Amino acid sequence: MRNRIAAANWKMNLTLDEACALAGTLVETLKSIDLGGKQVILATPYLYLSTVADIIKSNKNIFVAAQDCSEHLSGAYTGEVSATMLYSAGITHVIIGHSERRTYHQEKDEALKTKVENALTNNLKVIFCCGEQLSHREQMKHFNLIEGQLWHGLFHLDETQIINCAIAYEPVWAIGTGVTASPAQAAEMHSFIRKLLIEKYGESTANEISILYGGSCNEKNAAELFSNTDIDGGLIGGASLKADSFIKIIQSL
Ligand code: PGA
Repeated sequence: MRNRIAAANWKMNLTLDEACALAGTLVETLKSIDLGGKQVILATPYLYLSTVADIIKSNKNIFVAAQDCSEHLSGAYTGEVSATMLYSAGITHVIIGHSERRTYHQEKDEALKTKVENALTNNLKVIFCCGEQLSHREQMKHFNLIEGQLWHGLFHLDETQIINCAIAYEPVWAIGTGVTASPAQAAEMHSFIRKLLIEKYGESTANEISILYGGSCNEKNAAELFSNTDIDGGLIGGASLKADSFIKIIQSL
């Protein structure tokens, strides 16, 4: 059985006080909601990870994630944070390959592959992002593009490693734009990703891997998106910054 996951990507938002208040409200509200095996993951800025981890520690269904990690494990890399450091600070998850990292920091497949390896070697669970630009979709190249991103960044892993990863499909044209992929578009890509997982890893392993949708997912469209058999939850940016919206999304899982 794969996990149903609502992952919040706070990006570079919130002051420390706001972050603590949001995490505190989530913990308080989720006390009275039976999450079953559902997981809530809060991807906070590096600076807030330990503080937020401390706030959420009473709820075993809530985790914190870093939004990235370095492709190096230690050394003279000013400003970088390694997977080793994250693990040593008690962090359990990391997002790798978000489109904003790929676009603004020119992160390429080879570096992402190394980051994934570093994360798993350091016992972190990975949320690996993939997604096409609108131009790829218009030229009907979106399936090839996603297949390439997965093969180059993730599919070097063996079965024992891939089960510690979730995949987030985030069409770049839907991120932060208010334009969501239609449930049919999302379902089509998720089932394509599941098919690739089955071909590479076999049915039983493929069915263990959560595939999340990201891109203007909100409290209004989450339930319909998540009702698809291959959509196991979401990676949520803007709508995760307000407790009431994010809680409604969690309840839609
Ligand atoms: P959004 O961001 O929900 O604000 O579109 C999603 C993401 O970038 O992970």
